[in-house]
Amino acid sequence: MSTSYPLHKIKVVLLENIHPRAVELFEAAGFTVEHHKKAYTGQELLDVAGDAHMVGIRSKTRLTKEFFENARRLWAVGAFCIGTNQIDLKTAAAHGVPVFNAPFSNTRSVAELTISEIVALHRHLFDRSREVHQGRWLKSATGAHEIRGRTLGIVGYGRIGSQLSVLAEAMGMRVVFYDIVDVLPHGNAARMPSLGALLEVADVVTLHVPGGTGTKHMIGGEQLALMKKGAYLINNARGDVVVIEALAEALKSGRLAGAAVDVFPEEPESNEEPFKSPLQGLPNVILTPHIGGSTAEAQHAIAEFASGRLIKLMNVGTTTGAVNVPEVELPVLHHDHHRILHFHRNVPGVLGQLHTMIAGAGVNIAAEYLQSDPKHAYCIIDVDSSAGEAIKDGLARIPETIRVRTLF
Ligand code: NAI
Repeated sequence: MSTSYPLHKIKVVLLENIHPRAVELFEAAGFTVEHHKKAYTGQELLDVAGDAHMVGIRSKTRLTKEFFENARRLWAVGAFCIGTNQIDLKTAAAHGVPVFNAPFSNTRSVAELTISEIVALHRHLFDRSREVHQGRWLKSATGAHEIRGRTLGIVGYGRIGSQLSVLAEAMGMRVVFYDIVDVLPHGNAARMPSLGALLEVADVVTLHVPGGTGTKHMIGGEQLALMKKGAYLINNARGDVVVIEALAEALKSGRLAGAAVDVFPEEPESNEEPFKSPLQGLPNVILTPHIGGSTAEAQHAIAEFASGRLIKLMNVGTTTGAVNVPEVELPVLHHDHHRILHFHRNVPGVLGQLHTMIAGAGVNIAAEYLQSDPKHAYCIIDVDSSAGEAIKDGLARIPETIRVRTLF
């Protein structure tokens, strides 16, 4: 398998100190890699990455309309993180540039952090540890519990929630969950009919829902009042899911016996900025700087996942996992065939033009794949070998063509 472009001339620019595993994988694929530690903006970003075929970023680099309009050789973007808000996805799609992220790679890390917090809250671990650091020896069993036999309420039973469910049961917890989708329970986990029903029975409530308008402030004063007296709340999901002032109130009044919070409505942009929260200084409250998914293993997994997507796009044409263009999973190309990858604007008549042009050249179509969204379509045509390059130029001249590439 090859591309119509010499592999070593495919330039991959990685910014923001992406895990070196990505460099290894791109180099093993034959591409040329530039690895930068920093994030860049504006003209500096264009100087560093403006001539790249693939760009890998994390959350700090903003890929704007201006960037896509100027990065003329760009074929794809890898967001080596979960979120893609930092990327102008629409403009990327309009230029035929698929954007990939790595949404599952830190699932385990968040689930493990949550397990550790469930234990730590039940033992008031952070307060006891701080006291000993300060030279105070307050040995006591009051308020300390095993987690075995306690009820964990998981709100949002997706990737993280369901993984956590398995780990918690292995530690002897009883698991109940609430999700708006009819998901399959793992082990003995029991689905609850409503959020309220879960809040009423759980000793620990842990949130694993997505952010956005559907979940904004889903835990406020009213919901906290439904929780068992002395229960714990964990938010490792998104900062705006919880009304933070209401949580502070519930902790101060003693309704809740503690909380662990990793995500906040407003978070500093960098490690240099200070941080303030109404939860600071409250007893048995674990505050962490959005590190739920921040482990070496997650970074390694992200590097493998995102690089894998980009390499598969380059070598096979597959767009599965792209967040902004139609997703097409493709088989490996047969050695007797050429593969034409054609991104075009989704308007009537384009497929007709493609077929007429291919038929006019006397070329046989061996296989064809198509996927579209309201604006764009991605059509992949496998043709008899030697024919691909011959018709590529003609296809590029179709006015609705955004991008055409050949593999052989
Ligand atoms: P997911 O998409 O796999 O699961 C989310 C689940 O929540 C889905 O099953 C969905 O049906 C359910 N859901 C959506 N709206 C709901 C509602 N109103 N009530 C109940 N359930 C609802 O997501 P994943 O990967 O498990 O991530 C969960 C959260 O964890 C996300 O908010 C994500 O941003 C956050 N996260 C935080 C990290 C950190 O560093 N603290 C790292 C990774 C993810």
